[in-house]
Amino acid sequence: MKKYLVQDSAAMLPYHIAIIMDGNGRWARARDLPRTAGHKAGMEALRTIVWHARVRGLRWLTLYAFSSENWSRPAEEVERLLSLLKLFICCDLVELHKKNIKIHVIGERRNLTKDIIALFCEAETLTSKNTGLNLVVAFNYSGRNEIVRAVKSIAIEVEAGRIKDSDIDDRLFASHMDTALMPDPDLIIRTSGEMRLSNFLLWQAAYSELSFVPCFWPDFSVVDFDTAVAGFCQRKRRFGALEQPQDVRKVV
Ligand code: IPE
Ligand code: IPE
Ligand code: MG
Repeated sequence: MKKYLVQDSAAMLPYHIAIIMDGNGRWARARDLPRTAGHKAGMEALRTIVWHARVRGLRWLTLYAFSSENWSRPAEEVERLLSLLKLFICCDLVELHKKNIKIHVIGERRNLTKDIIALFCEAETLTSKNTGLNLVVAFNYSGRNEIVRAVKSIAIEVEAGRIKDSDIDDRLFASHMDTALMPDPDLIIRTSGEMRLSNFLLWQAAYSELSFVPCFWPDFSVVDFDTAVAGFCQRKRRFGALEQPQDVRKVV
């Protein structure tokens, strides 16, 4: 006889959450503050959510910190965003390491200044053996750019005769992405009420659940995080197949 087990809610928790932290500028404008004040407040929200995700036992958290397109903002704003990110890594690295968090950075590194590249390398190297939360920072990142870089690196392999075009499949392609060793996000949260991906994890988001939250990123709280996770737990993921009998999973 078939045996079924009522799916325990822990098994349904997302393994990987990715967040598009949007709305810093509008948060500041609503308070008659400069946009840069919104970015500073956004950095505080980032800290809170990282610590909370760790306490909740999440395995992977990816944060969209700066897109390839964000360079087109005024120089002063870009400068402020970069210095806040540097400050976060410099000031929090020891604490992140102590808390067993493993840092990864995705995005195009070519053309970044030496000090930023050095900071990323230091953070990744120092935390490389940690076994707790995997914290992925998407910086100078765009999904299309990542895909184009993957295509180029595969073309080089083919040209050198190391692989054949018939070897190219989803798996091989994914292994040439910045996210090669990472699971796809189960849940992507975007704050600020905008309902788009803005070039974030285009390949990896194929079967992600999406959650659009109305509040601006600096107001995003641990309660909002838990609410998004609870919403995720109600979703039925089918991956193109048919739904399993409701809330049960075959064990034998
Ligand atoms: C997100 O907030 C921060 C980054 C994009 C780096 P925004 O700066 O985009 O804020 P809004 O969307 O203009 O309110
Ligand atoms: C997406 O937000 C990028 C980050 C959160 C880093 P944007 O504010 O840049 O996106 P658009 O311009 O509203 O699509
Ligand atoms: Mg925005």
